[in-house]
Amino acid sequence: MNFDGVKELVHADMLAVNRVIQEQLQSGVPTIPAMGAYLVNAGGKRLRPILLLLAARMGGDRSARPIPLAAVVEFIHTATLLHDDVVDGSELRRNNATANQLWGNAAAILVGDFLYARSFEMMVQDGDMRVMATMAEATSVIAQGEVAQLENANDADLDPERYFAVIAAKTAKLFEAATRLAAIINGMDAAQEQALADYGRLLGTAFQLMDDALDYEAEAESMGKNRGDDLADGKATLPFIHAMRNSSAADQAILRAALADETRQHLPQVLEIIAKTDAIAYTLRSAEKFAEEAAMCLQGFAASAEKEALLFLADFAVHRDH
Ligand code: IPE
Ligand code: IPE
Ligand code: MG
Ligand code: MG
Repeated sequence: MNFDGVKELVHADMLAVNRVIQEQLQSGVPTIPAMGAYLVNAGGKRLRPILLLLAARMGGDRSARPIPLAAVVEFIHTATLLHDDVVDGSELRRNNATANQLWGNAAAILVGDFLYARSFEMMVQDGDMRVMATMAEATSVIAQGEVAQLENANDADLDPERYFAVIAAKTAKLFEAATRLAAIINGMDAAQEQALADYGRLLGTAFQLMDDALDYEAEAESMGKNRGDDLADGKATLPFIHAMRNSSAADQAILRAALADETRQHLPQVLEIIAKTDAIAYTLRSAEKFAEEAAMCLQGFAASAEKEALLFLADFAVHRDH
């Protein structure tokens, strides 16, 4: 299985998801469909709706019910990115100028709010209180994660526990919610629901660890985002934390100064210290551990193409370049 194989497996479903996304972006207020079309056409990986669909189909559901819920998950993801790019002052996303660059911060925040609100309208249509409870909790946890991250900003001594708490909330929670929804709509028992939720949570953790490694490693062009954003934002991510804990006092002083400085001018020196301390390899090993644990959560499910695809995606999360 490869990513193309995954896409083929969910192709018909994703066409339907994209139709729902287009429909639900309609509004008499022109900025909403305009920004919506811009984001939708920019080419995100659609990982969260794909996970929901694969897990739902693996569970045996052949109905149309997962389609709007997959769109909801992508809407909530998109809303968090709109807000995240304002908060992070990011200029590049999916190889395009960010919405805040093109429309300004105010419009980006308000369209993000619209996407959250529209998502809840769509879930009311679905009409299942457990679905709503799952997404309400996820949305609240994501927001808390982003606020906690803000509180942690510019703390060069951030400990791994607080870092992992942030990524569990801001990223892993939505992956967990996506796969949990698949279990809910299939009426799975509590143990199976927990297994799918755990798979999503562990995969999401691996995914963010990889994102944080790529932020130091990847070329902007392959990643579709600017390198060094995290450092410039004063975010101590695992590569930075590991480097801090494994370098000389002199190097620590360089790392501190670089995190406090809001530019990328110290990035080359930081990259040197990161290389010296093997901080990227350390972060990738951590990501791989989470991805392996995620794969183990699927042990109790019968073999199927969807299960293969979910196993592949656990691996993809830590071997991607974007
Ligand atoms: C970006 O998520 C935000 C993180 C959680 C790291 P994705 O990498 O899934 O973004 P798109 O949708 O594919 O652009
Ligand atoms: C992920 O955090 C954003 C959310 C999950 C809300 P980052 O700030 O690391 O994501 P990118 O790097 O901007 O995509
Ligand atoms: Mg960001
Ligand atoms: Mg990032």
